[in-house]
Amino acid sequence: MKILMVCLGNICRSPLAQGILESKISQKNLNWEVDSSGTSAWHEGEQPDSRSIEIARENQIKISHQRARQFKLKDFEQFDLILAMDTENYNYLIQIAPNQYLQKVNMIMNFLYPGENQVVPDPYYNGGFQFVYDLLDKACDALIAEYITETKVP
Ligand code: 4NP
Repeated sequence: MKILMVCLGNICRSPLAQGILESKISQKNLNWEVDSSGTSAWHEGEQPDSRSIEIARENQIKISHQRARQFKLKDFEQFDLILAMDTENYNYLIQIAPNQYLQKVNMIMNFLYPGENQVVPDPYYNGGFQFVYDLLDKACDALIAEYITETKVP
């Protein structure tokens, strides 16, 4: 399965989501691929925000090699799940998605709290990286729990 995490800048939330999920899938020997992108091109080519790098490092997760990129239309074809961090990212994706790909798009927090459309708040200006980390950690556990049985069936 191929999963794309999407936020606004691709420097705070989605790089963390990518790193956390990659770490869990490698621990569980799952043959999944994870990437991340931003709905904006504002930070194209940049490393994740130093605050995201640090909170990941405190949890033995390395994300400093990641580089920001903008979401592109081809991503709808290439990924099986496209997971938005908040309502703005979600609405953007839904607006530009060709009809046949609409069902690939969801909000990541819906795996933890189904149907509630809760958000991972943007920590760029006001902080809250520990809160964001904890939300993503729990949401990634819930995501794996939802798909793991399917994946393990021979
Ligand atoms: P992210 O956070 O979407 O989680 O990467 C942001 C990063 C940069 C900006 C806003 C949010 N910005 O305004 O540059």
